[in-house]
Amino acid sequence: MSPRSSPLYCLVFLLTFSSGIQAFNITRLLGQYPEFGAFNQYIIDSKLVGQINGRRTITVLAIDNSSIASISSRSKDAIKAIISTHVILDYYDEKKLMDLQGSSAILTTLYQASGIAIRRQGFINVAVFDGEVVFGSAVKGAPLNSKLVKTVATQPYNISVLQVTAPIIPPGIDAQSPWPAPGAETPLPHRKPKTPSTGDYDAAAESPEDAEAEAEAPTDAATPTPTPAPAPGPADKAADEDADDDGSKPHNGSTRTQMGLLESMVMGLVSLFVAL
Ligand SMILES: *[C@@H]1O[C@H](CO)[C@@H](O)[C@H](O)[C@H]1NC(C)=O
Ligand SMILES: *[C@@H]1O[C@H](CO)[C@@H](O)[C@H](O)[C@H]1NC(C)=O
Ligand SMILES: *[C@@H]1O[C@H](CO)[C@@H](O)[C@H](O)[C@H]1NC(C)=O
Ligand SMILES: *[C@@H]1O[C@H](CO)[C@@H](O)[C@H](O)[C@H]1NC(C)=O
Repeated sequence: MSPRSSPLYCLVFLLTFSSGIQAFNITRLLGQYPEFGAFNQYIIDSKLVGQINGRRTITVLAIDNSSIASISSRSKDAIKAIISTHVILDYYDEKKLMDLQGSSAILTTLYQASGIAIRRQGFINVAVFDGEVVFGSAVKGAPLNSKLVKTVATQPYNISVLQVTAPIIPPGIDAQSPWPAPGAETPLPHRKPKTPSTGDYDAAAESPEDAEAEAEAPTDAATPTPTPAPAPGPADKAADEDADDDGSKPHNGSTRTQMGLLESMVMGLVSLFVAL
């Protein structure tokens, strides 16, 4: 071993060793719930298992067999984009989401870490209105159309698996999901005037300005730099294409996001090692 390569080998050894101390196994975890069998299979087929298990702080938005059937006709790449959009690079359980009551937040997903997401495809928007948690792509004009159903499993503060009603599909990933028309506003959930709610959003609009302001593009600092990405930082692109989107930061993302960066580096080095 040449003196030049030995520090790398030490590092790779260390990282390989430490990656063996796995916080969870997503395949096994989801495998306990047959209703998420198809979702679990998509994670495996999209080769996302290693990327998910390699993280320590993650939230998976799972969709049951009947709701996920709608994506089955899409290409492998589109399915991978959708599935990785369902993996949030931070730990969110129901309690933490409920802390957002009346507001919204932008969350970074594994799709952002792929380096191929553009504009805000790699982020999702979560909002809480009347105690109901709704998710959608953070791309401007994308609907918040996937509601939280229940907690499937939690292992605080490493992994949280939450069931949602519908797939969150980033616009622009394929011809079936075109970019929203320019100038489109994110249709926010509407809520009823104070009555014991059935949970349907069908009345007056929640102040869109507030949520829009919250939903602005995350800053560079908060964007985990994807290891395998040779491309310019996705946030830079977002800034270029959405010149008015450089306002605020995501909620409490930065600390964990930095861990996310470290872990992407670990993943990168481990895959380098595997490739050698
Ligand atoms: C769980 O996450 C915490 C940080 O949030 C980390 O310190 C800890 O090592 C993780 N547990 C495992 C088993 O990886
Ligand atoms: C994770 O669980 C699956 C199913 O139980 C198993 O096949 C796989 O080997 C496990 N992976 C690791 C790294 O333990
Ligand atoms: C969900 O689909 C998977 C395969 O796609 C299947 O193995 C599993 O049995 C199904 N679960 C239920 C509850 O139908
Ligand atoms: C963010 O952190 C601050 C202080 O650390 C806390 O008051 C606030 O509730 C947190 N917000 C979210 C969305 O977790």
